[in-house]
Amino acid sequence: MSEVMSMERALVVYESVFGDARAIAHAVGDGLSAFLEATAVAAAEAPPELGPDVRLLVVGGPNHAFGMPRPSTREGAVSQHGAVIPDLATGLHEWLEAVRVPPGRLAAAAFDTRTSGHRILVKMDHAARTEEKLLGKLGAVILAPAQHFFVADTKGPLIDGEEDRARAWGRTLGELAAARADSR
Ligand SMILES: Cc1cc2nc3c(=O)[nH]c(=O)nc-3n(C[C@H](O)[C@H](O)[C@H](O)COP(=O)(O)O)c2cc1C
Repeated sequence: MSEVMSMERALVVYESVFGDARAIAHAVGDGLSAFLEATAVAAAEAPPELGPDVRLLVVGGPNHAFGMPRPSTREGAVSQHGAVIPDLATGLHEWLEAVRVPPGRLAAAAFDTRTSGHRILVKMDHAARTEEKLLGKLGAVILAPAQHFFVADTKGPLIDGEEDRARAWGRTLGELAAARADSR
């Protein structure tokens, strides 16, 4: 491992109401850790500023009403599904809007979780697409297409095999990030 590589880190920032996106985030981090030091952290606890050691930022969370969670859908999760959300006002969207990143070419990737693989609904559910847009606004380069992970129902659980798929995606991202760092 080169000196440059050993300083590099990946950060996985997630929002998760029922724990499914959190499990995916940790599985992605597991896969990434074969290539670079990786940490998964909830958006509520994520740093407001990324250091230059963060080479790869992966973000993800659930689809809520066809998009990223927002205060009204978090409130819906509490009132309709008994979720416990200490702070309805902040999550991944809000973190991505506020985070400061160092100048340079931050690599990034996005994922979301969703209940249905139906072709039309997959098109309409756009959480990961919005995440990619927000990453773009930060000047990040999207390293690989967004991934969508499926839950059996609103409160989960994840469909069998999804954590393995997330781990494999993490390995792919780690490999791409390492190759990109080597070629700089
Ligand atoms: C308020 C609310 C709205 C939702 N809307 C959608 C939706 O539009 N499409 C979908 O596939 N799943 C929808 N779901 C299901 C979530 O995608 C599911 O709860 C989530 O993926 C589970 O991830 P989590 O455990 O990390 O919260 C919704 C869930 C809630 C609570």
